[in-house]
Amino acid sequence: MNASQPRWWDQAVIYQVYPRSFQDSDGDGIGDLAGIESRLDHLVWLGVDALWLSPIYPSPLADMGYDVADHCAVAPELGDMDDFDRLVARAHELGLKLLLDFVPSHTSIEHPWFREHPEYYVWADEAPNNWVAAFGGPAWTLDEETGRYYLHSFYPEQPDLDWRVPEVREAMGDVIRFWTARGVDGFRADALQQLMKDPGLRDDPPATTPYPLPLGDDYGRLDHVHSEAGPDIGIALKAMREAAGDAFLVGEVYRPTKDLGPYLEHLDAAFAFELLHSPFDEEHLAEVVAEGQQMGRVAWALSNHDFPRLATRFGEERAARAAEFLLSLPGTVFLYQGDEIGMVDGPGADPPYDRAGRDSCRHPMQWEPEPLGGFTTGEPWLALTDPERRSVAAQRGVDGSSLELYRRLIAARRSDPDE
Ligand code: NOJ
Repeated sequence: MNASQPRWWDQAVIYQVYPRSFQDSDGDGIGDLAGIESRLDHLVWLGVDALWLSPIYPSPLADMGYDVADHCAVAPELGDMDDFDRLVARAHELGLKLLLDFVPSHTSIEHPWFREHPEYYVWADEAPNNWVAAFGGPAWTLDEETGRYYLHSFYPEQPDLDWRVPEVREAMGDVIRFWTARGVDGFRADALQQLMKDPGLRDDPPATTPYPLPLGDDYGRLDHVHSEAGPDIGIALKAMREAAGDAFLVGEVYRPTKDLGPYLEHLDAAFAFELLHSPFDEEHLAEVVAEGQQMGRVAWALSNHDFPRLATRFGEERAARAAEFLLSLPGTVFLYQGDEIGMVDGPGADPPYDRAGRDSCRHPMQWEPEPLGGFTTGEPWLALTDPERRSVAAQRGVDGSSLELYRRLIAARRSDPDE
């Protein structure tokens, strides 16, 4: 990769689609690939450069798709490979790039590898250390079938892959090659801080200073010097880069911006998460942006499918100011679906789909000012939040609407002579 050569993503605006909640095409209440294809005109109208799809793969949904059971297939409720090929082709016809979510640090416990290739995972006879999982509880769970413990950085249904095993690197490289051969333009790579851990499996010491990013209660009690961000991360990222060739690789590295250096040696960009969590005042923002710029090639986002929505955190007025700020930043910018119409968090579901409480920022997109929001003709998997109050149709062409503001800001960004 030649860092000085301009690339399509340098100043791009990338729109995050949460597939289950974007557009349903077959009335089953779940968004799908054909639905996304039918709404690409919205993205073109808005003026974004690319879309990123959160996971589309078969999954038992313990972590809503981030527990992948087959990396090289489409979840049946979202469509099939023909739908995928049509979506990529149509996106390209319209001048949009398409990114997939690549989930390398773990698989679903129902992935065939877990039984067929136990050597791809991390095992111990007894829980060997004090590591905890990001969503709480110990990071080691007893597998009744083998009587041994396996490591999982997230839910117990998500055993961690061992990236020190060459066959894991090869197999995950095949996954990347599979999708780039189908025309995918890049990947948002999930949870990269979890790929390399201390091979000696040493205990994490207790945390002594507050972490600069929010962590779950259990997780925040320890200083994750051994359970994440191993210094030999380059071994894993090099393999990923080799498989991806020139495709865009943006890393989700949930670490402070100052730690991103080793990741950026191989990736094209990495999210600077301090921005997403920063208080919205000049002093904090200036600090966060300066740090990002110093690191270089950071990607900016103010929201995603893991945290309360922008308009919920900031209120309508400040969310609009935040959009102005975000879209004026140099570098790659990510928008989360629905933020352009000022969507707020919904009530979630009872019982919840996500045990870590993230349903509320994943409610369906609101296209029309009607009860089902134009999202589905069936029973939506998660209720609509407030389509009669906010929708694309009601804001399009309306001066002063959030949607028109986003469109104007994106257009201004494109025509910025300093780019
Ligand atoms: C980060 C993803 O954004 C989140 O939704 C997921 O739960 C974890 N990584 C584990 O894959």
